[in-house]
Amino acid sequence: MSAVPDADFVRVCHLDELPEEGAAKAEVAGRTIAMVRTEDGTVHAIDDTCTHANVSLSEGDVEGNTLECWLHGSCFDLTSGEPTMMPATVPVAVHTVRITEEGDVLVALSE
Ligand code: FES
Repeated sequence: MSAVPDADFVRVCHLDELPEEGAAKAEVAGRTIAMVRTEDGTVHAIDDTCTHANVSLSEGDVEGNTLECWLHGSCFDLTSGEPTMMPATVPVAVHTVRITEEGDVLVALSE
């Protein structure tokens, strides 16, 4: 169970608006987020900017439970935000995702 208060969640999109296996860019309270759906249908939300250089991770490819940066190939774990492949060494922030029964995708931003 998530310990994040209900009031912290904001609606970002509907599940139908996300690619079957891929990423889409979203703005949440002024922060740019990569919304990512993996092959098993799990939806993740991470900061969209690669920590190696200032490019959009949502333009990268989903590989299992990671998102690969299109510029130099760093992969970021979608659960922890940790880079699993160089050259990036700094993690991206991971945000909490909740899906409603109606299929709305809600996100609570981490700090
Ligand atoms: S900009 Fe993402 S790995 Fe270099």
